[in-house]
Amino acid sequence: MAVRVDLNISLDGFATTTDQTPENPFGLDWGRLTAAYVATRTFRARVFHDTSGEGTTGVDDDYAQAYFAEVGAEVMGAGMFGLHEPGVDADWRGWWGDEPPFRCPVFVLTHTARPTLEMAGGTTFHFLSATPREALDLALAASGGKDVRIGGGPTVVREFLKAGLVDRLQVAIVPILLGRGIRLWDDLRGLEDGYSVTTEGAPSGITHLTFAR
Ligand SMILES: NC(=O)c1ccc[n+]([C@@H]2O[C@H](COP(=O)([O-])OP(=O)(O)OC[C@H]3O[C@@H](n4cnc5c(N)ncnc54)[C@H](OP(=O)(O)O)[C@@H]3O)[C@@H](O)[C@H]2O)c1
Repeated sequence: MAVRVDLNISLDGFATTTDQTPENPFGLDWGRLTAAYVATRTFRARVFHDTSGEGTTGVDDDYAQAYFAEVGAEVMGAGMFGLHEPGVDADWRGWWGDEPPFRCPVFVLTHTARPTLEMAGGTTFHFLSATPREALDLALAASGGKDVRIGGGPTVVREFLKAGLVDRLQVAIVPILLGRGIRLWDDLRGLEDGYSVTTEGAPSGITHLTFAR
């Protein structure tokens, strides 16, 4: 049972984008940051429910498959779930449609109490205020012996990294510069201690960086 993180970041280390507008709520930069991942056959099938078999294969798809494999529970922050977006109300059910790609219990860290949401396909969102250790213990107990993924965003991921709770950190470094946003690496001096660190390049230009215990 490993605790895993898997994020896309820019060359300058940002895991969030800042060019959202009411007309384009994701912004152009989010598309640039996630283009290679979204293009994979695995992402298209799992998130868009595209069963045509279209999408890229190869290195990026191998990592996309690994992203979804063997995850029994997920922890995410209020920001990743979408609770910080303007206009979100009590009925908001997240970004991912009626059948989210997680297919497991998801523990959403938030200071706002919300009722549990049961979605199609096996995803249940639980909302809680807890320390990273407490949230992880709940997720491990719910994971059925599989791995727990700390899904994001970067604020929550950095809490778990600082607490020393992550066994495997997978980062897709996308060759773009975002200039601003929330940086994954801030205040994590010496994080590499205790991990073996490897990289693998993909034809898309992405460098897949792995910190593994
Ligand atoms: N690049 C990637 O691969 C990737 C992956 C996932 C998400 N993202 C992006 O990341 C963005 C969100 O990231 P973020 O860093 O802004 O936010 P986040 O990490 O998703 O959530 C942070 C928020 O969660 C709540 N929280 C955190 N720790 C808590 C605790 N211990 N107990 C209770 N509540 C706690 C707080 O919100 P409240 O106080 O408001 O409750 C806090 O402001 C999204 O825009 C998403 O697109 C990027």
